Amino acid sequence: MSTLTTAAYLVSSVLFILSLRGLSHPSTARRGNFLGILGMTIAIVTTLSNPGVLSYKEIGIAFLIGGLIGTSIAVKIQMTALPQLVAAFHSLVGLAAVFVAASAYYNPSAFNIGAVGSIPMGSLIEMSIGTAIGAVTFTGSIIAFGKLQGFVSGNPLVFKGQHFINLLLGLGIIALIVKFCIDQNQELFWLIVFASFVIGVLLIVPIGGADMPVIVSMLNSYSGWAAAGIGFTLSNNLLIITGALVGSSGAILSYIMCKGMNRSFLNVLLGGFGGEQAASAGGVKDDRQAKQGNAADAAFMMKNSKTIIIVPGYGMAVAQAQHALREMGDLLKAAGAEVRYAIHPVAGRMPGHMNVLLAEANVPYDEVLELDEINRDFSETDVAFVIGANDVTNPAAKTDKTSAIYGMPILDVENAGQVFFVKRGMASGYAGVQNELFFRDNTLMLFGDAKKVCEDIIKGLEN
Ligand code: TAP
Repeated sequence: MSTLTTAAYLVSSVLFILSLRGLSHPSTARRGNFLGILGMTIAIVTTLSNPGVLSYKEIGIAFLIGGLIGTSIAVKIQMTALPQLVAAFHSLVGLAAVFVAASAYYNPSAFNIGAVGSIPMGSLIEMSIGTAIGAVTFTGSIIAFGKLQGFVSGNPLVFKGQHFINLLLGLGIIALIVKFCIDQNQELFWLIVFASFVIGVLLIVPIGGADMPVIVSMLNSYSGWAAAGIGFTLSNNLLIITGALVGSSGAILSYIMCKGMNRSFLNVLLGGFGGEQAASAGGVKDDRQAKQGNAADAAFMMKNSKTIIIVPGYGMAVAQAQHALREMGDLLKAAGAEVRYAIHPVAGRMPGHMNVLLAEANVPYDEVLELDEINRDFSETDVAFVIGANDVTNPAAKTDKTSAIYGMPILDVENAGQVFFVKRGMASGYAGVQNELFFRDNTLMLFGDAKKVCEDIIKGLEN
């Protein structure tokens, strides 16, 4: 690698690190995104100008096909479908790692790693570990995609001896890798791939809907390590650094989310320990009547409130209600109320989902607070306005040990003087668990599409 290439790769790596730093807060996210794009452009141009590139024809065709598919998906995709799209993309990274390892195995001289049958031990170790991680990422991500898209049931699939089988398979893959590094046998290579495909499926099927967010970020981490594996095979330092950045940032995000949901990181990593518990929980039918209000009631009560906490959730994203919600907040502030927004770490369908939407609607960042920062304040708050959120407020997470969401910290909206729930009907949330708060004395249901309800409240506030 020439000095110029190394220097350009170094600049790209620094830009990627600055990009990740920027993406850690909504106020700097745009800059972070820009730095990431700049880093990737430098990386691609540098790689393409490498004298080792023999023909631009195949690269151009692949670039065109991939670019067209990527652009058309990006234009069409709904924000709410991003988690499954991310999972689908991760599967491709995993598959790429398997393909690169296979081509290095069958044509080692093209990768400067010796000849068939005499590949150096170091390269064999990198290759086999990269293959295993890539294959696990591939099938695991496909199952995650299927669950999030609704092609596969979101319920945890658990059976007797599952963890034992996972353990056996895991140990079997390690044994296969050791044997492959000694024998360099092609059957062993494909056995590693096959066993890793199987364990990828087995690790994700027992994960219940409520834990899927952690899985998506964990697969993100796996895909990063798979990319780093490709980097070792291709002797590409930038790919190793980038893969390690994605791998470690994904692992940190998974850890943070596990903490946010009170899940054991190790359990999720090893494939749904505790899944049996989640499997036994289901949506409970409830014939009780919930008290129903209307937009005029809500406008009147909130106009006369001093403190209001808004709790947005997935339904706000579906309805694209964030602009109307901000307008409602502005009117309430003008009427003298203190308005703040409480964000649960897994509200919506992807990390930071609510923050992005509120930022898009120009809600001031200092009004948007995390669970830890605001949860105690509900007891001194006049109104909790829950808009399209459900699971993240559900007290079953604290009281019902059989519930799929048991253990997840929740926003304690029930402690507010008055609670409004804006939703279209009595349906449960993502985890399929009935929310007992709908029937409380201090709760008023505001049925309707979240955007429409906000617009009606705005009308009420303006009168
Ligand atoms: P949910 O518990 O899924 O509840 C959303 C509620 O919004 C539903 O009960 C639904 O009730 C209502 N809704 C849907 N469309 C609406 C619309 N147009 N207008 C008004 N209401 C509407 O959402 P949450 O409280 O944000 O919790 C998130 C859940 O998703 C958690 O279980 C979390 O684990 C899971 N999850 C999160 C992520 C990440 S990373 N954030 C990723 C995957 C899964 P109606 O149908 O009755 O209207």
